[in-house]
Amino acid sequence: MSQRTFSIIKPDAVKKGYAAAILAEIEKAGFKLVAIKKIGLTKTQAEGFYHVHAARPFFGELTEFMSSGTIFPMVIEKDNAIADLRTLMGATDPAKADEGTIRKKFASSIGENAIHGSDAEDTAAFEIGYFFAGLELK
Ligand code: CMP
Repeated sequence: MSQRTFSIIKPDAVKKGYAAAILAEIEKAGFKLVAIKKIGLTKTQAEGFYHVHAARPFFGELTEFMSSGTIFPMVIEKDNAIADLRTLMGATDPAKADEGTIRKKFASSIGENAIHGSDAEDTAAFEIGYFFAGLELK
Protein backbone atom coordinates (compact mmCIF):
# COMPACT_ATOMS: atom_id res chain seq x y z
CA MET A 1 0.00 0.00 0.00
CA SER A 2 1.26 3.46 -0.87
CA GLN A 3 2.83 5.21 2.09
CA ARG A 4 4.48 8.60 2.66
CA THR A 5 7.71 9.21 4.51
CA PHE A 6 9.88 12.19 5.31
CA SER A 7 13.51 12.75 4.40
CA ILE A 8 16.14 15.48 4.68
CA ILE A 9 19.22 15.94 2.53
CA LYS A 10 21.53 17.18 5.30
CA PRO A 11 23.97 20.15 5.28
CA ASP A 12 27.09 18.03 4.64
CA ALA A 13 25.63 16.56 1.44
CA VAL A 14 24.31 19.93 0.25
CA LYS A 15 27.71 21.60 0.84
CA LYS A 16 29.49 18.85 -1.10
CA GLY A 17 27.11 19.24 -4.07
CA TYR A 18 25.43 15.85 -3.65
CA ALA A 19 21.80 17.03 -3.36
CA ALA A 20 20.79 16.28 -6.96
CA ALA A 21 22.61 12.93 -6.97
CA ILE A 22 20.83 11.87 -3.76
CA LEU A 23 17.47 12.96 -5.14
CA ALA A 24 18.20 10.90 -8.28
CA GLU A 25 18.91 7.81 -6.12
CA ILE A 26 15.58 8.31 -4.36
CA GLU A 27 13.65 8.66 -7.63
CA LYS A 28 15.52 5.75 -9.23
CA ALA A 29 14.39 3.60 -6.28
CA GLY A 30 10.77 4.27 -7.23
CA PHE A 31 9.81 7.06 -4.81
CA LYS A 32 7.50 9.81 -6.06
CA LEU A 33 8.41 13.31 -4.90
CA VAL A 34 5.36 14.79 -3.14
CA ALA A 35 6.94 18.01 -1.78
CA ILE A 36 10.41 19.49 -1.31
CA LYS A 37 11.82 22.79 -0.06
CA LYS A 38 15.20 24.44 0.41
CA ILE A 39 15.69 26.02 3.84
CA GLY A 40 18.08 26.59 6.73
CA LEU A 41 17.12 25.76 10.33
CA THR A 42 17.87 27.78 13.44
CA LYS A 43 19.37 25.82 16.35
CA THR A 44 16.00 26.02 18.14
CA GLN A 45 14.16 24.67 15.09
CA ALA A 46 16.66 21.77 14.84
CA GLU A 47 16.15 21.04 18.57
CA GLY A 48 12.38 20.90 18.00
CA PHE A 49 12.75 18.50 15.09
CA TYR A 50 15.09 16.16 17.01
CA HIS A 51 13.34 16.51 20.41
CA VAL A 52 13.20 12.70 20.86
CA HIS A 53 17.02 12.73 21.03
CA ALA A 54 17.21 15.57 23.60
CA ALA A 55 18.72 13.36 26.31
CA ARG A 56 21.39 11.84 24.02
CA PRO A 57 25.02 12.92 24.50
CA PHE A 58 25.25 13.90 20.80
CA PHE A 59 22.18 16.19 20.87
CA GLY A 60 24.20 19.43 20.92
CA GLU A 61 26.48 18.28 18.11
CA LEU A 62 23.52 17.01 16.08
CA THR A 63 21.45 20.19 16.34
CA GLU A 64 24.52 22.42 15.75
CA PHE A 65 25.25 20.46 12.56
CA MET A 66 21.64 20.42 11.34
CA SER A 67 21.47 24.22 11.70
CA SER A 68 24.86 24.78 10.03
CA GLY A 69 23.66 25.12 6.43
CA THR A 70 21.07 24.60 3.76
CA ILE A 71 18.94 21.45 3.87
CA PHE A 72 16.34 19.94 1.54
CA PRO A 73 13.43 18.47 3.55
CA MET A 74 11.04 16.42 1.44
CA VAL A 75 8.01 14.15 1.48
CA ILE A 76 8.22 11.08 -0.74
CA GLU A 77 5.80 8.27 -1.50
CA LYS A 78 5.79 4.63 -2.59
CA ASP A 79 4.67 1.24 -1.33
CA ASN A 80 6.44 0.48 1.97
CA ALA A 81 8.13 3.91 1.82
CA ILE A 82 9.35 4.11 5.44
CA ALA A 83 11.20 0.78 5.46
CA ASP A 84 12.37 1.06 1.84
CA LEU A 85 13.91 4.51 2.39
CA ARG A 86 15.78 3.23 5.45
CA THR A 87 17.16 0.35 3.36
CA LEU A 88 18.16 2.77 0.59
CA MET A 89 19.87 5.12 3.11
CA GLY A 90 21.94 2.38 4.78
CA ALA A 91 23.13 2.23 8.39
CA THR A 92 23.29 5.45 10.45
CA ASP A 93 27.07 5.06 10.62
CA PRO A 94 28.32 5.14 6.99
CA ALA A 95 31.23 2.90 7.99
CA LYS A 96 28.64 0.17 8.62
CA ALA A 97 26.42 0.94 5.60
CA ASP A 98 26.01 -1.64 2.82
CA GLU A 99 27.52 -1.08 -0.62
CA GLY A 100 25.19 0.86 -2.91
CA THR A 101 23.38 2.72 -0.14
CA ILE A 102 23.18 6.52 -0.03
CA ARG A 103 25.22 6.79 3.17
CA LYS A 104 27.91 4.47 1.81
CA LYS A 105 28.18 6.63 -1.32
CA PHE A 106 27.76 10.12 0.10
CA ALA A 107 28.25 10.24 3.90
CA SER A 108 31.43 10.74 5.89
CA SER A 109 30.59 10.04 9.56
CA ILE A 110 27.79 9.04 11.95
CA GLY A 111 27.19 12.71 12.76
CA GLU A 112 27.41 14.00 9.18
CA ASN A 113 25.54 11.22 7.42
CA ALA A 114 24.05 12.95 4.35
CA ILE A 115 20.39 11.97 4.76
CA HIS A 116 17.64 11.55 7.33
CA GLY A 117 14.61 9.26 6.98
CA SER A 118 11.67 8.73 9.34
CA ASP A 119 11.85 5.49 11.33
CA ALA A 120 8.11 4.81 11.88
CA GLU A 121 4.60 5.98 10.90
CA ASP A 122 4.17 8.22 13.96
CA THR A 123 7.54 9.92 13.52
CA ALA A 124 6.88 10.36 9.78
CA ALA A 125 3.59 12.13 10.58
CA PHE A 126 5.30 14.45 13.11
CA GLU A 127 8.25 15.17 10.81
CA ILE A 128 6.09 15.87 7.72
CA GLY A 129 3.95 18.26 9.78
CA TYR A 130 7.05 19.99 11.18
CA PHE A 131 8.11 21.16 7.72
CA PHE A 132 5.04 21.11 5.46
CA ALA A 133 1.50 22.51 5.57
CA GLY A 134 -1.43 20.42 4.33
CA LEU A 135 -1.80 22.53 1.18
CA GLU A 136 1.79 21.69 0.19
CA LEU A 137 1.06 17.96 0.30
CA LYS A 138 -1.67 17.57 -2.33
P1 CMP B 1 19.18 10.73 11.82
O1 CMP B 1 18.63 9.58 11.06
O2 CMP B 1 18.99 12.09 11.26
O3 CMP B 1 18.61 10.69 13.31
C1 CMP B 1 19.33 11.08 14.44
C2 CMP B 1 20.73 11.46 14.10
O4 CMP B 1 21.61 11.53 15.18
C3 CMP B 1 21.34 10.42 13.21
O5 CMP B 1 20.76 10.49 11.93
C4 CMP B 1 22.81 10.75 13.26
O6 CMP B 1 23.18 11.71 12.31
C5 CMP B 1 22.91 11.35 14.65
N1 CMP B 1 23.66 10.44 15.52
C6 CMP B 1 23.32 9.21 15.88
N2 CMP B 1 24.27 8.69 16.69
C7 CMP B 1 25.24 9.64 16.80
C8 CMP B 1 26.48 9.68 17.46
N3 CMP B 1 26.92 8.67 18.19
N4 CMP B 1 27.21 10.82 17.36
C9 CMP B 1 26.74 11.86 16.61
N5 CMP B 1 25.56 11.86 15.95
C10 CMP B 1 24.83 10.76 16.04
